[in-house]
Amino acid sequence: MTDYQEISKGDILIVDDIPENLELLFQILTEQNYEVRRVLSGHQALKITEIDPPDLMLLDIKMPEIDGYEVCRQLKSHKNTQHIPVIFLSALNETFDKVKAFQVGGVDYITKPFNIPEVLARVENQLQLIKTKKRLEEKNQKLLSINQQLELQKQELEIVNKELEAFNHRVCHDIRNELAIIQGFSQVLLENGYHNKTEKSQEALTYIISAGKLIEQIIKDLSRLTYINSQQLDFQIVDLSSIAHNIINTLEKSTLHRVIDWKIRENLSVYGDPNLFYIALDNLLSNAYKYTATSDNVEIEFGSLDNINGADNQQIFYIKDNGVGFDMEKVEKIFAPFVRLHSNSDFEGTGIGLATVQKIIHLHGGKIWCEGEVNRGATFYFQLPNKELMDNG
Ligand SMILES: Nc1ncnc2c1ncn2[C@@H]1O[C@H](COP(=O)(O)OP(=O)(O)OP(=O)(O)O)[C@@H](O)[C@H]1O
Ligand SMILES: [Mg+2]
Repeated sequence: MTDYQEISKGDILIVDDIPENLELLFQILTEQNYEVRRVLSGHQALKITEIDPPDLMLLDIKMPEIDGYEVCRQLKSHKNTQHIPVIFLSALNETFDKVKAFQVGGVDYITKPFNIPEVLARVENQLQLIKTKKRLEEKNQKLLSINQQLELQKQELEIVNKELEAFNHRVCHDIRNELAIIQGFSQVLLENGYHNKTEKSQEALTYIISAGKLIEQIIKDLSRLTYINSQQLDFQIVDLSSIAHNIINTLEKSTLHRVIDWKIRENLSVYGDPNLFYIALDNLLSNAYKYTATSDNVEIEFGSLDNINGADNQQIFYIKDNGVGFDMEKVEKIFAPFVRLHSNSDFEGTGIGLATVQKIIHLHGGKIWCEGEVNRGATFYFQLPNKELMDNG
């Protein structure tokens, strides 16, 4: 609030074609610390209100050219001026149509000759009403924004709830299935004599081991996602390019025979949590690595598109491969936990990787999306808010 606003109790425009009336009201009101402007005609009043609307208008009815009723009617028909309360001024000896005064939008009237306490009481009353209205509007605004926040929280809770449901299903259903396999084949082993290396017992052992591995993987994935949910973000500049190189080294060691043309753009960095970005890139690059395993002349690229939309100056990062790709018609749920577009017999996995990546990007206030084509590869994009926005937000 400016000093002026603190001192002035309100900005009032008086409109009267008789200078003495103007002068008198001006005196009364300025003495009470109101900011007062005066004009002698309806035309001037309309012009002034358009440029700089007052808080309140005292408007004479009987004026040449354009009378008070008409001035009021015009004020009320314009968006910028319709909120200004109008108190009509009328002389006792004039014919004053009160019904018409209220019909055209007046809120009160004062009769001449002026009774000073009455003038002040009526003016103060209107200005108080304006203040109360403003306070209510502000409260309303606050409630609206609280409501919006609650709505956002509700949406987040719904997402978390869906994840929990998926976990529940995963834990109860899938782990139980794998345990049944372990139990069943252990029984086979027991019945066949596990020291006899028959084909049947060999097969049973393979099933037991792979079921055990899957359970281990599920538990690992679940704990990774829980870890992300419980993390306090440790914001700093993160060198994504060097993280990518580390991940690639580890991937290349895992299968020696693969030849991949890696195209890593250097010096790509973001402002975020380094551990979480390691996990995100690990998932995206591991996917690119995994879903190119059956392709020839494999190229995997990590790069960025600069200022694609100009205005917000945000970089878009992408990981692109030329592997098996996927059908865009099925892309809708690709980021949901445990959703897989390829079968386990073609490519192993639990379907939690992209849900994890999405969670990390969302935690940083960013967005992620992808495109793909069957047998022509896939590209995953992510975009993050500017560092300044994160600092302020
Ligand atoms: N680069 C890619 N190319 C083709 N399909 C992909 C690619 N990345 C992901 N997908 C598809 O999206 C699905 C979900 O990916 P996500 O990483 O979540 O799970 P996953 O790789 O199957 O298992 P994991 O949890 O072990 O990562 C995959 O099953 C696959 O069908
Ligand atoms: Mg994956």
